[in-house]
Amino acid sequence: MDQVPSGPIRCLVLSDSPEGGETIASLLRTEAGLTASVSAMAFGEGIRNARRGEPEVIILAADSLVGADALISIEELEAAIPHAAVIVLTTSTDAGRLRDFVLAGARDCLAPPYTRETLVNSVRKVHQNETRRRDRLTASITGGLRQHRCQVIAVHGAKGGVGTTTVAVNVATALRLITKERIAIVDASLQAGDVGIALDVVANTSLDDLLPHLNGLDADLLNKVLVTHSTGLRALLAPRDLERVDSIGAEEVRRILAFLTGHFDYIVIDTAPSLDAAGLAALDHADQIVLVTTPEVPALKNAGRFLQLSRRLGYPIEKVALVVNRARGQQAIPIADIEKSLGIKHFATVPSAGKTFIRAANHGEVVVLRGGMGGASRSLFRLAERLTVSTGERRRPSLIGRLPGAGLFRRPPGPTTSVPPQTARANADASPG
Ligand SMILES: Nc1ncnc2c1ncn2[C@@H]1O[C@H](COP(=O)(O)OP(=O)(O)O)[C@@H](O)[C@H]1O
Ligand SMILES: [Mg+2]
Repeated sequence: MDQVPSGPIRCLVLSDSPEGGETIASLLRTEAGLTASVSAMAFGEGIRNARRGEPEVIILAADSLVGADALISIEELEAAIPHAAVIVLTTSTDAGRLRDFVLAGARDCLAPPYTRETLVNSVRKVHQNETRRRDRLTASITGGLRQHRCQVIAVHGAKGGVGTTTVAVNVATALRLITKERIAIVDASLQAGDVGIALDVVANTSLDDLLPHLNGLDADLLNKVLVTHSTGLRALLAPRDLERVDSIGAEEVRRILAFLTGHFDYIVIDTAPSLDAAGLAALDHADQIVLVTTPEVPALKNAGRFLQLSRRLGYPIEKVALVVNRARGQQAIPIADIEKSLGIKHFATVPSAGKTFIRAANHGEVVVLRGGMGGASRSLFRLAERLTVSTGERRRPSLIGRLPGAGLFRRPPGPTTSVPPQTARANADASPG
């Protein structure tokens, strides 16, 4: 349900140019329910001013933002006024740069021209998201009980190519095999989702098909739109229609996940390496974030920044489970050094197993279904099993310890492609109830 703000939203424009700041503030002031003040100093004094006025939304509009200082000033702002949401006005369109802003704490990044409509929408959206996030946090701190027992596991990669989709797909498949419960995987890597390819399912439905029905989602629609894998795992695939990706924001993701949690026991979300409002909403919604990194400096640097962000977002430290993929390969940084530099213990490792993954990919198969109980397959099973314990109330006896061999987890006979939407419901076991 939408949060009704109790008073006007207090905005502060921090700018290094008084005129520029005033122009932006005057656009905001024409909107009912917003107040806007200006500080013509983006840093130092500006940040002290910001604290006094207790703004709820800070718009950082400094030309110097193009420089490296931007990240530091966003981080300073976040630390000084943690309850305010920061919007960055930037001329940069570089995806890596935008991710940096988000990792530094920005809740939205806008590019010129700054129209009244885009500014106001952004302010309202980030304010609403921030209010919701705080409410959720308060509810969990004060022991607010979960309304259902569904466990949501978001898998996020420190950078592209570290194995996020691989971990997400294998964990979801392993969860299905281990628990036999209702498992869904959601491809929230909206621009370039490849969960469908990884599962080797073909579908003519995807996440964007839910958009026109967000006010009336029902189990029937769900069964039509989610694809069924041969294991019974259900998949909500990334939009086929890339033009519709822009209309998927935090609110849409939240609604879809809220609906799915009523119908599944576990939801695994594959997220994009670049963090936008939709990605952050998915991470917020998760009970557990599996942070995937590889043991190399660039990925570890990003992992460190993600951990900082998660602290600023108020996530408890246990919410993030660090998984080191392709661990212990040649040139790999040792786990002990990784833990020392990131300041957290690792949750699991997955060894590098190039041939296994290539063979599985060539056969359109998921490694945990094919790889026997050696190496990577075993590690991924262990990871899934540990996640049932760390996220769930349910403690299960170890399945892996009792395995006679790989045979038990071999791919079940039958077609490897999806069940067409119209027959998806026939799979009663996997059907959301
Ligand atoms: N442990 C591993 N050993 C060998 N290859 C791996 C491993 N994990 C992932 N890969 C391979 O790395 C590539 C990128 O993985 P992917 O899951 O698509 O990364 P991301 O989703 O982070 O971009 C894929 O070809 C995948 O098969
Ligand atoms: Mg991926």
